[in-house]
Order: sequence, then structure tokens, then C-alpha cells
Amino acid sequence: MEGVIDALTRDLLTREAGFDWTVTEFVRVIDARLPPRVFYKHCPELLQSLKQSPVATPSGVPVHLQLLGSDPLTLAANARQARELGALSIDMNFGCPAKLVNRHDGGAALLRDPERVFDAVRAVADALDGDIPVTAKIRLGFSNRLQAVACAQAAQAGGASQLVVHGRTRDEGYRPPAHWEWIGRIRQHIKIPVVANGDIWTLEDYWKARTLSGCDDVMLGRAALADPWLAPRIRHWQATGQRLPETTWRMRAETLCTYADLQCQKLPEKVVTSLVKQWLAQMRKGNAEANAHFQHLKRITRLDDLLQALASSGVSERKPHKALVQTPDITTHV
Ligand SMILES: Cc1cc2nc3c(=O)[nH]c(=O)nc-3n(C[C@H](O)[C@H](O)[C@H](O)COP(=O)(O)O)c2cc1C
Repeated sequence: MEGVIDALTRDLLTREAGFDWTVTEFVRVIDARLPPRVFYKHCPELLQSLKQSPVATPSGVPVHLQLLGSDPLTLAANARQARELGALSIDMNFGCPAKLVNRHDGGAALLRDPERVFDAVRAVADALDGDIPVTAKIRLGFSNRLQAVACAQAAQAGGASQLVVHGRTRDEGYRPPAHWEWIGRIRQHIKIPVVANGDIWTLEDYWKARTLSGCDDVMLGRAALADPWLAPRIRHWQATGQRLPETTWRMRAETLCTYADLQCQKLPEKVVTSLVKQWLAQMRKGNAEANAHFQHLKRITRLDDLLQALASSGVSERKPHKALVQTPDITTHV
């Protein structure tokens, strides 16, 4: 998720078994073949492929690379570039609702014309020549759902081997509800696996989304941050039929402290302070205790104070955070 889930967050979220795979923030493709450093910035896990290791989080969960663009030739050139850098697969973003992105003909803008979805996916599939898969992520449409099935069929006909469907139109933004039954309608018209996405916040939502969409798999977005134990809870229920206990504030606070330690290795304290508060703001959703802590913690401006406050609110024992360590520029590795 752009601006929210980077490689360190992926690392943290996949330490407990739960996620089958993850996807990078989108790499914005406009009119040029991007240099390797752009791909390494979005997907530092690609550097592992230089050592013949899989492109995965440290716990071994695969990381797929996402492209966002509209020009088929440029998308193809960047898909080739990503493959050369070791990408496992290319996911194509046809879901981004941001005005700026849509005005520049990217993300959900292409859903207004299924042929453009087809052209983009086909160009990437041709460029990859079957070496690695291409997948796609769509919404139900731009302003309405009239082209929902046609867009899904276009992605399939272009060569996508899997489709994630966020059950809202672009104009619906992130407003509830997500229309899981519409994802089911799409699923009945295509053969490739469909993954249901949108508004899955709890184990109950997971059941409902699966039932209404008929999909075997779901994708978690904001809830991965709101409740970092949702994916493990789903996995545990799948394996045992049992429910894990609710995520406590202490678990959330420990996650935030570990996150701060990780980010401090590459970012200045001020930025880390904002990132910790950004994640805490996501945790408020549907959780009164996290919301109460947010109201108190949001005013704190120094990282040490924030971490101390988190510690005294829930974390058992806390060492002072590590000072910023300058890591070599990623471009020096390539
Ligand atoms: C801040 C933010 C950034 C996002 N960035 C991306 C992105 O880079 N690529 C993508 O495919 N979806 C992105 N999404 C969409 C989510 O992946 C997901 O489809 C959407 O939030 C609906 O699922 P949810 O209700 O589980 O969050 C983003 C969503 C948010 C809120």
C-alpha cells in the first residue's frame, strides 16, 4: 500500500504465519524505462535475487512487484526491467482512485475502457513471454459497475493469471460497503482465480466475503495495519477451526515499538515518529482502546517520548531505540 506498507512493514507483518504473499507499493510508470534503483527502492527484496535467494520477506513470504501505468509499450519495457532484476511476477494496478493518478491516466482510470485494460495486460504478458506471471488488480469500475465483468474478462484475455477485485468502484473510494457479491458475479464469468478484496476487518468479514464472493482467497489492505494479527487469526482458524484471542493493546504497542526500531535503521527520528503515529491511526479503526491511546499519543513529538509512552502503556520492557545507522545507497549494490 503506497506510503504505508514498505519492505520493513512487510517484514514485520509476515513474522507470524498468516500471509501467503505480499505485493509492493505501486511503481509508477509514465513514459520511460525506469532505472534499477527505482525498483530496488520499492522492492528492496529484489536485492536477494542477486544472491540467488527468493524475492521474499525475511520470513520467506513471496513479494510481488506492482506496476501502475497506462502506456502499453512503457509498461512492457518496465516489466522486462523488473524481470531482469529478479521479480517473481508483475501485478498491474487498475484500482488506484487518486485524482492525480487518474488525471494522468493511471490506476482505475483505465477501467473506463476494457480494451485499454486488455492492451496493458497483453503488452506486459507478451514482454514477459511466460517467464514470470502477470496478475491484475481492479475495482468494480470507475463511476459505475457496468463494465466490471468486461474489465475482468479483458485482464484475463490479456494474459493475467490471477485477478484481485476490490469490491467498489473508483467513485466509491473507500466508503463502505465493499460489494463482495459483485466479486462473485465477476468470478462466474472468468476462469482465472479471483481474490476478494475490500473491507475485510475481522474473521467474520472474512467468512462473509468468502461466502458472498465464492472466492477461496482474500486480500487484506488496511486491516493488515489495523490488526496485525488478522492474517494469523484467519490462518489459525483455517488450520484448527479455533479462534485466536482478540489482539490486545500490548500486542499492538509492541508491534509499533518494533516497527520504530526497524525504521530507525534507515530514517531520521522525526520521520519515524510520524510513521509510528500513522500506523497507530490505522489501528484506531474498530478498536476503542487503540483510539484512546491515539488521542493521548498523537501530541507527542519526540520519538523517545513516544516510545516511552507506548512502553508504559503496554510494552513489558523497552531498550532505548537504536540511533540512525546510515545504510549505503541502494544504487551502490547494482
Ligand atoms: C493508503 C493506501 C494506499 C494504497 N496503495 C495501494 C497500492 O499501492 N497498490 C494497490 O494495489 N492497492 C493500494 N491500495 C488499496 C488496497 O490495497 C485495497 O485494495 C483497498 O484499501 C481495499 O481493501 P481494504 O478495505 O482491505 O483496505 C491502497 C489503499 C490505501 C488506503
